[in-house]
Amino acid sequence: MSMVVGEIEIRDAVEDDVGEILSIDDLVFSTTWSPSFLRQQLCSEKYSHRVIEKVGKIVGHSGLMRLHDEGHVTTMAVSPNSQGFGLGRLLLADLCSSAIALSLVAITLEVRVGNMRAQSLYKKFGFVPAGVRPNYYSDTNEDALIMWLNDLFDEKVQETIEETNKKFLQAEVKNG
Ligand SMILES: CC(C)(COP(=O)(O)OP(=O)(O)OC[C@H]1O[C@@H](n2cnc3c(N)ncnc32)[C@H](O)[C@@H]1OP(=O)(O)O)[C@@H](O)C(=O)NCCC(=O)NCCS
Repeated sequence: MSMVVGEIEIRDAVEDDVGEILSIDDLVFSTTWSPSFLRQQLCSEKYSHRVIEKVGKIVGHSGLMRLHDEGHVTTMAVSPNSQGFGLGRLLLADLCSSAIALSLVAITLEVRVGNMRAQSLYKKFGFVPAGVRPNYYSDTNEDALIMWLNDLFDEKVQETIEETNKKFLQAEVKNG
């Protein structure tokens, strides 16, 4: 299923997208997945991977792993030049919509304790801190904050999804 908001399209990732996805990761993460690891996820029923395109160019992506009725955010990234324009919010709204469509009830993730930008994004959708995994990131030994969105069917989640899509569309119209 693809979602179009103005000149932005969010769609399922396909094998041909692997190079573009990993080149974004090279710019924003200190360690990145191997192409074969990402390809395996794209083939697996347990994972969904989405890309966000602006006029045909991939500018971000997100990953979700399903375990029973819960989801785990495996990755979320927006290319540096495209950050700060609401695309992260759109990707997360899309991820939550996909999770609801899959009848998942909750979503969890890990985020670096120092990554306030990402934490602020997750909190907007109702994710709350639920603990710390010490030394989780092997490159710097930074701790991971565990966050949970405990009830995907809370009407506030749906409101945030709708408000995000509406706000983005209005901004697109204003900017031409
Ligand atoms: C985290 C990330 C995906 C957010 O994407 P983005 O497109 O920049 O985010 P948005 O423009 O949609 O902003 C979403 C929210 O992030 C927060 N935010 C954005 N820019 C910020 C900044 N400079 N400082 C602090 N918070 C900021 C705000 O809460 C913002 O919501 P608002 O605009 O409604 O106030 C992106 O910054 C990124 O790829 N970072 C590097 C990789 C990463 O850290 N991934 C997350 C791993 S868990």
